[in-house]
Amino acid sequence: MERDRRLPARVRIVDVGPRDGLQNEKATVPTEVKVALIEALADAGVPSVEATSFVSAKWVPQMADAAQVMARVRRRPGVTYAVLTPNLKGFEGALAAGADEVVVFGAASEAFSRKNINCSIAESIERFAPVAKAARDAGIRVRGAISCAVGCPYQGDVDPASVGYVAKLMRDIGVQHAGVADTIGVGTPTAVKRAMEAALAVFPLDEVSGHFHDTYGMALANVYACLELGVSTFDASVAGLGGCPYAKGATGNVATEDVVYLLHGLGIATGIDLAKLRAAGRMVSGHLGRPTNSRVARALDARDAPSGIGTPA
Ligand code: HMG
Ligand code: MG
Repeated sequence: MERDRRLPARVRIVDVGPRDGLQNEKATVPTEVKVALIEALADAGVPSVEATSFVSAKWVPQMADAAQVMARVRRRPGVTYAVLTPNLKGFEGALAAGADEVVVFGAASEAFSRKNINCSIAESIERFAPVAKAARDAGIRVRGAISCAVGCPYQGDVDPASVGYVAKLMRDIGVQHAGVADTIGVGTPTAVKRAMEAALAVFPLDEVSGHFHDTYGMALANVYACLELGVSTFDASVAGLGGCPYAKGATGNVATEDVVYLLHGLGIATGIDLAKLRAAGRMVSGHLGRPTNSRVARALDARDAPSGIGTPA
């Protein structure tokens, strides 16, 4: 496929399925399933996996086994294993676990910040500052996630200026990368581009990413819109798993399989083997006892299923 030269030649996918995908599951997912999923994603060529969160188990019980997950995963050289760290306590866990990258997660909405991490935006930055410093001192990369970058379940529309404001605060404390997150999947391309441009006024093109939940089915359109801006890193979740416990009704991230299909169709390299990725999605969906949320996986499964139509005798 001849690539449209205006789009990036290569995209880096961060699979957030083991973290964002599983954090909302009511039934405890066994540690060995999480480990198998992370390993299957790395084996499929995913360059970066958000493996777990070092957060309070009272707030997010599903992530209570963060240290065990990190200890058991067989690391594949060259793959980044990232974890969420809301504060220094979380960072200490991440450091002990040998995380390659930590993610501090703030919001462009005050109301969401309070619901998700129990503090204001300004207080969140105060908590993130020592995390960013400790991480940089330890040679660990720090990403920042900016939730509710286009819409908030409590506040409604979010002004791009709020994204720019949080991005600046994050940059000033040493955060190296801004993830623009549509937590509840309400964004459409123009709104998402505006939010992304606000982050791009603060961070360079190769240090921003898109994180789009697919609640309204807009995520792929939003990925494409950001490709047009030159953005070349996207979070996605295998099998479209997930949702945020503090964003009612929000569904999972855009399915990694669907993003990879889109990118490969556009002639954009990802390094990911779609067949192996699909197998990872099948494995975790099988464990959860649910059909995949990936349209591409469903289509390929239907294509590959025995037709059921008998051959004429
Ligand atoms: P808090 O209650 O305000 O914190 O929670 P605290 O400092 O007062 O501590 C309360 C208790 O939590 C204490 O334990 C601490 O030790 C413990 P106790 O004395 O009561 O037994 N604690 C911790 N335990 C383990 N790890 C830690 C930790 N910190 C304190 N790191 C806190 C504040 C941030 C900890 C809490 O609100 C929390 O854990 N929230 C989790 C939020 C979360 O994980 N949300 C989902 C991920 S974000 C997301 O999905 C959005 C994203 O995908 C982008 C998008 O889509 O928008 C990234
Ligand atoms: Mg998310």
